[in-house]
This record gives sequence, C-alpha cells and structure tokens, in this order.
Amino acid sequence: MAKDGQGLEVSNADGGAIAALDFLTAEWLAFGDRLPEFIAAAEKEERCALLPLLSANLLLTVNSTAAFAMAQCHFARAKAMAHEATARERAWLAATEAWFAGARDRAQKIHEDMASEWPHDLLAAKVGQLHAIDRGDAEGILRIGERILPANRDNHYVWAMAAFGLEECNRLDEAEAQARHAIEMERHDPWAHHVVAHCLEARGRLLEGVTFLQSMADTWERCNSFMYTHNWWHLALFLIDLDRRDEALALFDKRVWGMQKDFSEDQINAVSLLARLELRCVDVGERWSDVAIRLEPRLHEHFSPFLDLQYLLGLARAGRQSAVTEMLASLEDRAERATAGEREAWADCAVPAAHGLAAYAKGDFGEAAGLLGRAMPHLRAIGGSIAQRGLFGAIHLDALMKSGWNDAALAILQADDRERPTVPWTKRALSDLYRRVGRSEQALLAEYQAEQLARRYAQGQA
Ligand SMILES: [Fe+2]
Repeated sequence: MAKDGQGLEVSNADGGAIAALDFLTAEWLAFGDRLPEFIAAAEKEERCALLPLLSANLLLTVNSTAAFAMAQCHFARAKAMAHEATARERAWLAATEAWFAGARDRAQKIHEDMASEWPHDLLAAKVGQLHAIDRGDAEGILRIGERILPANRDNHYVWAMAAFGLEECNRLDEAEAQARHAIEMERHDPWAHHVVAHCLEARGRLLEGVTFLQSMADTWERCNSFMYTHNWWHLALFLIDLDRRDEALALFDKRVWGMQKDFSEDQINAVSLLARLELRCVDVGERWSDVAIRLEPRLHEHFSPFLDLQYLLGLARAGRQSAVTEMLASLEDRAERATAGEREAWADCAVPAAHGLAAYAKGDFGEAAGLLGRAMPHLRAIGGSIAQRGLFGAIHLDALMKSGWNDAALAILQADDRERPTVPWTKRALSDLYRRVGRSEQALLAEYQAEQLARRYAQGQA
C-alpha cells in the first residue's frame, strides 16, 4: 500500500494522490494560502477516499453555508470510495461524520485517540485541536499536542501545536519556551509566532510583543487570510494597550480587514479589533458598515456561539437593528435545540451574552452589565482563545463602569492589573474608580503609575 510523506498508509493512492496529501499537510501546517488547490485536486480524485475526506474537513473549517454544502458533497464521495479504507481512514470517516452531526465532543475524542495511535498524522492532530479550541477545551488542545510530540520532536510545527495547548492552560513559561524552540528550528512558523504573541499578551509584555511580531511579519506574506489577519490583530492588541491607537487603527485598514472579507475568521478579527478600539474611545468612523454587510447573510448559520456573538456585535454596532432582532430570535431557537453537551455554550452563555451585547451597542449599559454578568461564568464554553474571549470581558467591564457598578468593576480591574500590571489604561480606569468610591490616595497612585508607564513607553522602554 502507498505511503505518504509521514509514512502513513493510504488506500487506493497513486503518486498524484500522495503528492496532493503531502501538499495539503505542508500547506495546512504552514497556514498557507494555496489550500484551495488541494480542494480542486480532491474534486477530480476518483479512487483515493482520503482526498475528498480531508477536503471535507478543510471545507468545514471555513464556517460558511456554501462551504458546508461543498463539504457534504466531498464527504459523500469519500464514503463511496472507502471500500478499502484503512483503520486510520475509518477513524477520519467516523470523526468527520460526528462533525457533520454537530457532535464535536465525539469528533474530538476520535482525534485524541488518533493522536495516540498515529502520532504522525499531523492533520488529524490539527483538526482535533481545532475541535478542542472550538469547545473551549484547553486541556484537550494540550493533550493532543503532548500525544504527538514524542514522535515528532524534529518537527517545529508540532512544538508550536503543543505550545499553544500549554498557553491556553496558562502554563505560559513552558509555552513560550516551546514556541521559541519551534522558531529556532524554523523561523517560518506563523503558529509559533502566534503562541509567543499570546504569552507576551497574557503577561502584558507590550513593547516586546510589538518588536517580536514586527520582526516576524515578513514571513506571513504567504499565509492564508486567517493566520495573516490574526497575527496582525495580535500586534494591534499590543498597540492598543500601549496607547498607540492610531497605529492600531491603521493596521485594521491595512492588514486586518480587506484580505478575504467573506471569511468568518477575517470577520471576527475585524469585529473584535473595532470593538476594542471603541472601548478605548477611538472613533472608527464608517468601518462597521463595511463589515456588517458581510455579516448580514450569517444570521441563521450558528456554526459556533463564539462566531455568532461577534457577528451579532458587528451588526449591532453598525446599527442593523432588524438583523440583530432576527439573529437574537434565531440564537434562542438554536439554544433550545442544544444537546446536553452544548447547553452551557449556547443557552447559559450565548443567549444572555447576545442580548447583553445588543443592549450594550444601544447604550443600555445597566441591562448589558446584568446580562453579560450572567454569561461570563460560562464564557470558556463558547470556544476561541483566552485572548479572543477577552473581548467579552472587556465589554462587560465597560458596561459595569458606565452603569456605575463600581465595586464589581473595581474587582475586575484589580485582577486585570495584577495579571498585567503594565497597561496604562488599566491604571487610569482604576484611578477613576478609586476616585468614585472615595479612595483618593489610591486614585492618585494609580494615576501616577499610569503616567510613569506612558512615559516609559513613549521612550521605548519596556
Ligand atoms: Fe490568537
């Protein structure tokens, strides 16, 4: 039986099919921009089931109705070709079937088992980690990384995959060390850059974050739009915290929005960046409407609560009230259909959070604070990364501050400041709150610290 470049057996594969599979592996791990070429190859393939099968998985990551329909066609073709499927290919079939059925937990479990059984199947690990990310299962991301690492210690992509799991489990020192090890092995690893960005962001190492990402940005030119816009989004986050908001807004225009405006991942990077800029009082002008035009067709998709909440926020900030109302009703229906394993994400988090975001966008801050407060304890379940979910925490905090829930806001800000004591904005907000609750000495101290930090950053000192 033919084997691919990782030494994995592939049924009914000729040289062309093996070349296509190796191309897919290289391109997916590198977050390259030539993935559509694999889908085209899979469409023509008539014998090797793994091609349309992996193509179906790739299409499912796109999170669009059209791509989902295409994925169904590819999956049907894969099943029709799968008479001689190997055990590994049968596992791929079962996991994909589970994904189509909305059973991401079952799909993830199969991928975790595959990571143990076939640790050289790096795409199985990649997709497994994607399931874990979408389910907010940080330990699951790490488990998969740890299972494949011993057999792939010479592969920088695998070090970065394991490092991301460590980062999401808040094991920041180990995560950063592993990601930097990956970069020492190969500088062209955008996922490793991404992990380092997360680690520096979590600790408030702001100038380091800017310098590091700028020093790697030349390697992102051949990345797909998700990785390209997302790494630039991370750079914008550092700039916002450094009070360099104009530069962050310029990155929105030049790097974050405009690559592939119809792609879900580009859209959420755009929504999240605009919202974070507005939280720091930046006037983003007409930018919401250009994003919202692309969000309007998504009201009833519900590929994930994490995506949906950002779509809804984008629509609400653009003032598309009828679309917001329609999406809220649709979200409630989706939550009612949630399986037991999905209930926390859809019913406990997404529904109150969506209403809270809609209230926030209308300026009804007290209502927003209450609704978002109900959702926050369940936020992890909607998926995404810690840094991405941070948007909802920031909006909740803003609603608390604007509606005068001083004690609750103060507790959150104090915790933020303990974790990231390097952000001038946090110190200023703390100062404002201390003043409101009559603690003028602490207010003055926080204000002084904010000024000191701002002065250091202006001089380029970390
Ligand atoms: Fe990220």
